[in-house]
Amino acid sequence: MAKVISEGIGAFYQHYPRVAAIVTAQAKGKDNAMAVAWHMPISFNPPLYGVALSAKRFTYRLIAESKEFGVNFLPFEAAELAASVGGSKGEEVNKFRQFNIAKDKSARTAVPILKDAYAAFECKLVDDRDYGDHKLLVGEIVAVHQLKEVFTPEEILDLDKVSPTLYLGHEVYVTTSRDTVRSLDREVYGKAKGGL
Ligand SMILES: Cc1cc2nc3c(=O)[nH]c(=O)nc-3n(C[C@H](O)[C@H](O)[C@H](O)COP(=O)(O)O)c2cc1C
Repeated sequence: MAKVISEGIGAFYQHYPRVAAIVTAQAKGKDNAMAVAWHMPISFNPPLYGVALSAKRFTYRLIAESKEFGVNFLPFEAAELAASVGGSKGEEVNKFRQFNIAKDKSARTAVPILKDAYAAFECKLVDDRDYGDHKLLVGEIVAVHQLKEVFTPEEILDLDKVSPTLYLGHEVYVTTSRDTVRSLDREVYGKAKGGL
């Protein structure tokens, strides 16, 4: 199969699948949630997490006002929630009521945390910058919520207990398969000479 090189870059979806997460926000007593595929860890110390949001999102306006946001990670059984909050606008509808979304109490912020999430971060906004048609919002993680029993003692997801929600783009969702897990020790592989 031959690779094709394009220089006219349109919407570039080649980096998918990505974990589909839910960004939550609250300002003036109004809660909202939206789906995000563009999000990433940035630093362990201090613990920083970034999300790329279009300034058109109602969620962005709430975050700009409250300077706080949540990032919630969903099990695959709750993938419909990503499509629901990613397909509706907070300025038109109260998504928590409309989609009957249950909340957990937050600890260090006023952002809603999703009860269905197996893990969630509460973040305080530390940077808000324009990059092209999105804004990169960087938050310091001030509290982590997690279902302890779905993580191994090494703090990795136990795929016998939970399947994460991944997004392939164009409304297609997928999850991981336990059968594909490979343990590749970097110490061993980093020293190996020649083909393995
Ligand atoms: C799976 C999925 C991933 C998405 N990822 C992003 C994203 O990373 N950034 C973004 O700005 N919008 C993203 N969206 C679009 C928003 O979720 C969508 O526009 C939502 O309606 C915004 O809601 P709001 O206006 O209430 O904030 C995504 C949508 C879906 C379904």
